[in-house]
Formats: sequence, C-alpha cells, structure tokens
Amino acid sequence: MSVPVAPGRLPLFGHTVRMLRERYRFTASLRNSGDIVRIDLGTMRTYFVTNPSLVHELLVKKGSSFRKGALFDKFQPVFGNGLATSNGAFHRRQRRMVRPAFHGERVALYARTMARAAADLTAAWRPGEVRVVEEDAQSLAVTVVGEALFSTGMGDHEIEEVGRSTFTVLKQGMVRALSPSFVERLPLRGNREFDAAVERLRTIVLDVVRGWREEGVDRGDLLSMLLMAQDADTGEGMSDEQLHDEVMTLLIGGIETTALALAWTFHELGRNPEVERRVHAEVDEVLGGRSPEFADLGKLVYLNQVVDEVLRMYPVWFLMRRAIAPVDLGGVPLPEGAEVIFSPHALHHDPTSFPDPDRFDPDRWSSDRASTIPQGAFIPFGAGARGCVGNVFARAEIVITAATVAAKWRLVPVPGKPARVKFTTAAYPSRMLMTVVPRS
Ligand code: HEM
Repeated sequence: MSVPVAPGRLPLFGHTVRMLRERYRFTASLRNSGDIVRIDLGTMRTYFVTNPSLVHELLVKKGSSFRKGALFDKFQPVFGNGLATSNGAFHRRQRRMVRPAFHGERVALYARTMARAAADLTAAWRPGEVRVVEEDAQSLAVTVVGEALFSTGMGDHEIEEVGRSTFTVLKQGMVRALSPSFVERLPLRGNREFDAAVERLRTIVLDVVRGWREEGVDRGDLLSMLLMAQDADTGEGMSDEQLHDEVMTLLIGGIETTALALAWTFHELGRNPEVERRVHAEVDEVLGGRSPEFADLGKLVYLNQVVDEVLRMYPVWFLMRRAIAPVDLGGVPLPEGAEVIFSPHALHHDPTSFPDPDRFDPDRWSSDRASTIPQGAFIPFGAGARGCVGNVFARAEIVITAATVAAKWRLVPVPGKPARVKFTTAAYPSRMLMTVVPRS
C-alpha cells in the first residue's frame, strides 16, 4: 500500500509564537491526508500515524516490535539508560524494579506530602494578591516529586535549579529531535544551555544518590526503594550510574508534565465559572473542610473529569517509536529502522473522537459519554508497556492540589492580561496571572 506524503513541510526552525503554533497546526492537519502519512525531516524519513486505532496498535498490540525512536536518542545524554530511554530486556527488568515504587499504597503515602505541599503553598497566599500560576505549579511539583524521591527534600537552591534546568532540557531536547544531528554540535546558545542544564542536574542527582548510599537507611521514599530494589532473577541491585539515570528520568518526567497540567487546571477553572462552581460543591461535600487523602480521590468524580479534560486539551505534542524489524501497521509495511511519529495533541483534538475539540467540556468524561471515545484516541500518559509509570502519582497530585485550593480559594484571571502560550514540547503557559480571592 502506498503511503501519502505530507503536503507541505513541518516548519522546523523559528521560535516566534506564530511559527510554533504553526507546527501544531501542521501535525493536526495530517489526519486529512491519511491514517499514516510520510514526512521527511531533512534526511530522516518518518511515518506519522494519525488514526487512533493504529496508534493503539503501535503502542499496545505491536508494542514489542518497536523501541523508542529518534526523539529519545536526543534525550540519551540526560536520561542515560533510565526507564524512558532504555529498551528491550533491560527496560523490562528496570520497569519491574521501579514499578512497586508507584503502586497504590505507596502513592497513598506520597499523597500526604502532596496535601501538605498544597496547604503550604496556599498558606502563603493573601486575598487580592496576583500569583504567577505556572510558577506556583512548578515549585509545588518540584517539592512533591523531590520529597517523594528524597523524603527529606532538597535545599531551596537545588529545588530552584532542578525546576529551571528541567525546562531547558525538555525544550532543547524537542528542538534537537526535529533537527539534523549536526545542529547539536554548532556553537548555539540553545546547545550551550542544554549541556549546562544536563551537567547541573547530574551533579545534584549524583550527590543525593551517593549520600543516600553511604547512609544506607530505608526512609520509605522512592530513592530508598530504588536503592534496595533487586532483580528477581539475578538478585542484583542498581549501580550509582543506573540510579542516577532512573532518578533523573523520574525528576524530569514527573515535574514539568504535572506542573503544566496543574497550571492549565487553574486556568480552565478560572474561565469556566459553572465548572468551578460544581468543583466547589463536590469538594465541600466530599471533604467537608478537612484536607484531602488518597482515599478521597475516587470520590471526587467531577474533579477527575475536569483533570481528564485538561489532560485532553494540553497533552505532549508528539512522541516517537522506531521499528526493530519489518512490521505491518494498518496495511503499511514499515521497514526495520522506520521512525514513527504520533501526536497525543493531534489525537486529542480530532473532532471525530472529540466533537467540538477546542471546547473545555468535562462532561465528555461522564461514564456514558466516555465509553464512546475510541481506543487510542486519549493517550495523555501513552499506553502499553511504555505507558507512564507515574500516572496515578500525577493524577493524585493534581486532584489533591486542586481540591486543597478549591476548598478555600478561587483563582480569578487578571482582566486584560491573558496567559501567553509557548508551544514547545506541549503548550506552556507564560505569565498566567491570577488573583487570589477567598471563597465567600
Ligand atoms: C500529568 C503528568 C504526566 C504526564 C502527562 C505524563 C506523560 C507521559 C507519557 C505520554 C509517557 C509515555 C512516553 C512514550 O510513550 O514515549 C510517560 C512515560 C513515563 N513517565 Fe510520565 N507523565 C506524567 C507524570 C509522570 C510522573 C509524576 C512521573 C514520575 C514521578 C512520570 C514518569 C514517567 C516515566 C519513568 C516514564 C517512562 C516509562 C517507560 O518507558 O517505561 N511521569 N509519561
């Protein structure tokens, strides 16, 4: 079967808001050209999958025929052989060791940290004060992941450093994935910033890992679990280098993504008063003024729908896979080494799966309507053996923080100052200004 070739080219360079937005439009428009569309990125031939059921086939049914692709090669200097970048039997072994750290009962413990971090954040708010919401969301996410990983927490300086460096790494990593390899070696500011951010993160993480190893005490945090984890077959633990790679992966994978979803949650609540009113009513009924716990999460049904809708509207732009052998996808024979792209953003804005896709409508997630959403159409956390290990953790963090805020406060958009959006790895808010108003 012949594969249609993308009409036009993916605009690679240029960082004005218009150019960046154009890239998102381009990838969303590809669904009009076919279920699988060929795009040539310089010398790299890629296959862009637009059809949800083929994305499901790629990630789940035929997941074992693929490994991570060119995008993740670009993150190798940062994540090394961590969970997000490793492949094959090594990845399966590491995933078996890391997953228990994210089981429900562990997340229930981290939920206490989440509730405390949310309470600390809001305790500093004063009525009428204007907050930069994405900054609050990011500092909360760094604190929560940092404390879950390293229980005693990092120093303020490290927390700030991790937040800043993480953003630089993600932004530059994505630019690299779409650019020819020689661009990485040019003396560009972006390349210098990327290298410096990787180095700063490496120093912080290795210091913590070595310190922990010397103490050798189980503190009940994620790092202790990783330090004690042993392969079921060989009984071997992880080296410092492997621990560094896993910790780095969890820090970078867990901070920016969650902070983003949290900031957009406040944005949507702020501009949809009826949705906000329903969230307040539910939070009052379920929590009755006490602080949220893990066991409450399932009871905050409408707030979970709001979070699903945020994850639908503001997901990662694109992800990639590489075929490890010739494989058929939807009748298209892909050769070994074929680079495959799919876009959660484009899938989540496909009007066939989500009518009126630009409308924020948490009721899409009511049980009767949600059951009609096609398989593969909603993949904020990916799917299959490479799906997000932190999905329960992330949802708990967003719901607990949103519920803590909703119990006492409203965040109201500052008139005439709409948040600007930077379209990089995902749609990033920039200066999302909101006024803190106590609930009457
Ligand atoms: C709203 C928040 C989050 C979103 C939207 C998100 C999204 C994703 C996605 C889409 C993937 C799959 C990538 C692919 O298929 O190529 C992924 C994988 C991963 N995520 Fe998350 N994530 C979030 C939070 C977290 C958190 C809190 C952690 C940990 C603290 C985490 C750790 C990871 C790891 C380690 C992987 C790699 C899993 C593997 O390949 O085995 N994520 N995430």
